[in-house]
Order: sequence, then structure tokens, then C-alpha cells
Amino acid sequence: MNIYSIRGAITIEENTKENIVINTEMLLNEIIEKNNINKENIINIVFSTTNDITKAYPAIATRNIGITDCAIMCLQEMYVEESLPMCIRVMITVNLDVKKQDLKHIYLKEAKKLRPDIALKGSGFAVAVDGPAGSGKSTVSKIISKELSFIYVDTGAMFRTITLYCLQNNINCNNTEEIVKNLQNINVSLSFENGIQQIYLNDENVTEKIRTQEISKNASIIAQIPDVREKLLNMQREIANNNNVIMDGRDIGTNVLPNANVKIYLDADIDERAKRRCEELSLKNEKFEYEQVRQGIIDRDNLDKNRKIAPLKKANDAITINTTNLSISEVSEMIIKIIKENIK
Ligand code: DC
Repeated sequence: MNIYSIRGAITIEENTKENIVINTEMLLNEIIEKNNINKENIINIVFSTTNDITKAYPAIATRNIGITDCAIMCLQEMYVEESLPMCIRVMITVNLDVKKQDLKHIYLKEAKKLRPDIALKGSGFAVAVDGPAGSGKSTVSKIISKELSFIYVDTGAMFRTITLYCLQNNINCNNTEEIVKNLQNINVSLSFENGIQQIYLNDENVTEKIRTQEISKNASIIAQIPDVREKLLNMQREIANNNNVIMDGRDIGTNVLPNANVKIYLDADIDERAKRRCEELSLKNEKFEYEQVRQGIIDRDNLDKNRKIAPLKKANDAITINTTNLSISEVSEMIIKIIKENIK
């Protein structure tokens, strides 16, 4: 047995005795059930409420659910600007025979938004982010994944990895037959370090190696091959089934995760996108010509938008954000707000 503190929170609908008691009981019951707690092993319970809740009934709620002899305490919190209104928090100290990582902290109703990482654990919440090259998908997806503790899946990297294999093995990226024949020799796998994707080609970490202009150009060509897409599709769906993900690409909202909880389509003017790509290349000390970079993006957009299978397209239910005149943090905040509104 170890002593642990288990946390939880719930929001209430009305500042009335009935509503407060019911919700307090609901929260306690959920923590007890989900953690298999023997009520006799509870040492103490600390409640706190936001200060728009003017009454609290901790003793009634705990007694109603059969907890009779642990210490309880209830506090009213200071007003915190922009905090979630009408919220009851609880911390139960308990003797439990489990590992720390198996504790289940419980966030219910609007309080789920306080800790989406915990509240949505195992529920496979999916955010699909699509858009053309340079629209800001990966930059903002990384920030959002960190903020919400979701896993960030960069599907473009998977197409790039297959492209790298072709280039390393002198396979022409227009030679569909040869590429399809070689697919069985190409093992693409992912790992996530602090939620950020690392990508492997047959056990070699190629996360950095795939970021060249040559690979960008050729990835759009091999992405037209149905067998290539099929191979990657299963992998993409499996990751989304088992994790809360923010996944970016070209066909995530339309094809990979048509039931995603949130769909975003990012876009930006071609000159702004070309400028961003040039800035990235400068940072890496790579040589470039602005016009060439711009034309390269236009060519890739054309290939991605006009291919027969799973072309780049806004899903009907996606929210479009034009990022031309927005900062990275403005876009990230807009999307985080949309995600939080969709966590039910
Ligand atoms: O996002 P990126 O530049 O890393 O993507 C490289 C290419 O991979 C892109 O031009 C088209 C292809 N791709 C795709 O067809 N479908 C996806 N879901 C992601 C990328």
C-alpha cells in the first residue's frame, strides 16, 4: 500500500444546494470507482470551490455516498482571472495498492478543459490539421500538442521517409512499379519523445535527414501512388485509435480521420508561405533562390490538390484559418480554443 493524492474537478450548473451536492457526489463516486478505492482507506478529502460558488456541502455529499470517518476540509478559492467558473475541485488522500502511473485523476463536465490530457486519456480525441505547404501546420501543431499533452503526428514525414528510401536506392520517384515492388523493404516506424515524433527508416532515425528540398519535391510525387498511401493510412489510423492526437497532413480530415473531433484547414497566401520556407532554409544555412522556392511550393500544391487519390482538400466540416497575417501564437491560441470548445 502507498499513500497517494488523487485529484479531480467538476463544474456545476447552478449555485444551489441540490446541484452542488449532486455534482460533488458524482465527482467523488467517479474517483472512487475509477481507482477501485476502498472507502475505508481514504485518509482525508480536501475540497475547494471557485468563489462564485457561495455554498458547499462537503460533509453531506461524503456521507451520502458512505464515507463516514475520514477528515474533510473545504476552502473557497481566491478569484483567478479567466479561470473556469462554477468549479468544485477535490483532492483525496488514500492508501492504495497501485503504481503511481496508474492513478486516475478525474475531470468532469467543463472541468475536462482544465486537463484535456487526463480527461481524454484513452479516448482517442483527434484533431486533424490539413493545408498546403508552408501554411503553418507543423509549427502550430507542435505547440498545441505540447500545451494539451496530445501526440503530434506529422504524416508528411512518413511520405518523406519513403522518398528518402527511393533516393538512397536510386529508385526514380516516377517509377511507380519499382516503388511498389520495394514497399515491402521499407519499414517506416515512429516513436514519440515528449509527444514529438521521431521517424525511423528501417531502424535508422531519419527525422532530420528527410527535411531537404529534394525530398520535399519528390514526396509529392510518390504521394500519388495508391499503394504508398495505403501502407501509411493504416499506421496513421492506428496511432489515432490509441492516443489523443493532433495529426497534420493533406488528407487527414477528408480521408484518414473523417470522424476527427476537430478539423482545421490552414491556408496562407503563396508569397507568405514562400517567405516562411525561405526563412527556414536560411536558418539551416541552405542556399536558395526565392523564385525557385515559391515555384516549388506552387508545383507541390498542384500535385497535392490534383492527384486522383486523397487530394489536398478542405473537409466540409473543417474550420479554415488563413494564417497570412497571424502570428504563430495567435493561430495556436485560436485552435486551442476551438479544441477546448469541442471537449465534451
Ligand atoms: O507536409 P510535408 O511537406 O512534410 O509533406 C510532404 C508531402 O507528402 C506533401 O507534399 C504531400 C505528401 N503528403 C500527403 O500526400 N498526404 C499527407 N497526409 C501528408 C503529406
